[in-house]
Amino acid sequence: MARQYFDVETGVLDRSIFADEEIYREELERIFARAWNFVCHESQVPEPGDFFTNWIGEDEVIAVRGRDGAVRVLLNTCPHRGNKVCRAEIGNARRFMCSYHGWRFDLDGALVGMPKEDVFYRGNLDKQAWGMTAAAQVASYHGFVFATLDATAPPLEDYLGWVGRLGIDFMAAQGEVEFLDGVQKNRVRCNWKLAVDNVHDWYHVGVSHGASLRAGLFDEEFLGPMDQMVLLGEYGHGISGPGVTERQYAESVARLDAGERSVWYDAMVARRRRTAAEDALGPVGRRSFGHPNIFPNLWVSTSPQVCLRIPRGPLETELWWFTYQTKEMSAGQRRRNLYMANHYFGPAGLLEQDDAENWSHATRGAKGAFARTLPANLAMGKGADRVLVDPSGQARVETVVNEHGQRWTYQSWQEWMRAGSWRELIAGHSMPPTGDV
Ligand code: FES
Ligand SMILES: [Fe+2]
Repeated sequence: MARQYFDVETGVLDRSIFADEEIYREELERIFARAWNFVCHESQVPEPGDFFTNWIGEDEVIAVRGRDGAVRVLLNTCPHRGNKVCRAEIGNARRFMCSYHGWRFDLDGALVGMPKEDVFYRGNLDKQAWGMTAAAQVASYHGFVFATLDATAPPLEDYLGWVGRLGIDFMAAQGEVEFLDGVQKNRVRCNWKLAVDNVHDWYHVGVSHGASLRAGLFDEEFLGPMDQMVLLGEYGHGISGPGVTERQYAESVARLDAGERSVWYDAMVARRRRTAAEDALGPVGRRSFGHPNIFPNLWVSTSPQVCLRIPRGPLETELWWFTYQTKEMSAGQRRRNLYMANHYFGPAGLLEQDDAENWSHATRGAKGAFARTLPANLAMGKGADRVLVDPSGQARVETVVNEHGQRWTYQSWQEWMRAGSWRELIAGHSMPPTGDV
């Protein structure tokens, strides 16, 4: 990608990136095929033979637990002639058999047999050379299994950095996480990046979700508070949204100790205090209640869900909503959890219906021969804030509603798209900002 599409200095973005076929093809190669992509949670595949199918960009993969207990990630495409090997979304198998000609594969992808091997191949097929292809690297963090198709990608924990890890720590600190069966899937006619940058967007809440607010379904204080915290991590990870000051946190703790709750974040602070969360999240992380996006497309939602924004061409995105709970939750909490999972986001979610309509119209607005030449403005808060660094090393901006997270997403996106390899990306990517932002 030779051209500049995002001007870091002004926060002005070229809209054509939301509808361009060529850019989309490059994204599949330069972002999805290179990045560490979330594949499943280990609790979805607890036993040998358990599998779950997912996507890395437009490459379908099978995450499968082997007889040795290891989770492997195999490309779900038959080495014979390319048919999809596993048609089920989730299940347990002793072997995988391709439905086209019947080649059979072991749980580690090894080709173990096919119909009439002796009669038709007559000893001239090297079975060892024709197994299923595995992802170049697989690793998990707190049970979240990620895979990359690039052997030169840095280790997962380095890739996530402290901000990516903190996003997952938010969940892990609540207890022992288990994912529930059933992923809510729906398609939105929008470019995947619009769904991603919205994770950082707290400007739209009062307007887009105005009906839900006016109907009293959500408390405005809770859904669109003024106090915001932004944490930016290497390679495009970020957490944006509500955050409280140290003083507010301490006052909340005092209220909770006195058995009182009066402001919206008391419930959040109570959750952070109930577990070993305070230590795990650190002095800054514990005060952040924002939305983490793990680059490129995993949103660790504040409701009990995790959402993948899977690209389906430049003009369409498939949203996959995973629901989780913790083993420690009471029956009542589990019921509340499920209620939230069904009513906030996902195909039946009130909030998501508001959002999806905006994203699809913004995508249309990038298609017109004239409209696509117009810029988009992501300048909010530019030059008005300062990065503060805690003695613990946790850096963040504490401010009002802003677009720092969106700018960081597109700045990082542009660096991913310009780098010819992981080596170039490691050498040339921007470190999270310091000083004035
Ligand atoms: S394509 Fe799979 S067995 Fe032929
Ligand atoms: Fe929204």
